[in-house]
Amino acid sequence: MKLRESGMPEEAYWETLLDVDLILDRLGVDNTLGNVVELGCGYGTFTLPVARRISGILETLDIEPAMIERTRQRAREAGLSNIVYTHSDVTTDGFGGVPGSRDACLLFNLLHCDEPVRLLTEAARAVGQSGWVLVIHWRCDPSTPRGPALAIRPRPEQILDWAAQTGLLEPDGPVVDLPPWHYGLRLKRTVK
Ligand SMILES: C[S@@+](CC[C@H](N)C(=O)[O-])C[C@H]1O[C@@H](n2cnc3c(N)ncnc32)[C@H](O)[C@@H]1O
Repeated sequence: MKLRESGMPEEAYWETLLDVDLILDRLGVDNTLGNVVELGCGYGTFTLPVARRISGILETLDIEPAMIERTRQRAREAGLSNIVYTHSDVTTDGFGGVPGSRDACLLFNLLHCDEPVRLLTEAARAVGQSGWVLVIHWRCDPSTPRGPALAIRPRPEQILDWAAQTGLLEPDGPVVDLPPWHYGLRLKRTVK
């Protein structure tokens, strides 16, 4: 089942709303990361830049075949060969792969979903014991030009509370400002 309010506007407009390099710099996405899994490739807005930065394989999964096809096309044109595409529904299939086998899991613009603690728990299990779940979301103020309804849009403190409820994640540093419209969180997998 598609996560609630996870539709997207037209590609060119979407990509004016995000400073992708700033976001990835501030979240520490670089070649110290090996294998990474991304939930929801969308248009590949983050998929391609992340694949360029990391030293391993980026697995990206999406419920919409058209999103995977668009991302695959862009990656092919860019000559990127370290991306694996999976057409799947995270609510029924989880993140797939071997639990604990990734250095990071990306949850970008998705934690307004119905079961955020479950999603964060599965994301935590997808990464190894020294891995990170990296989150970005829309700021909770009405001036943002897009984003899910404010009634379901989580504040950073809410996400930190959900992360604590998993028993598997703890904050790694303060809330990150990601202008113009987002904030980010680095959540570290706790050793259990
Ligand atoms: C709001 S977009 C975010 C895309 C990308 N993370 C970004 O920030 O540019 C959400 C994406 O998640 C995908 N999606 C929604 N529900 C899903 C599900 N249950 N399983 C896998 N992908 C899903 C949508 O098809 C869409 O491409």
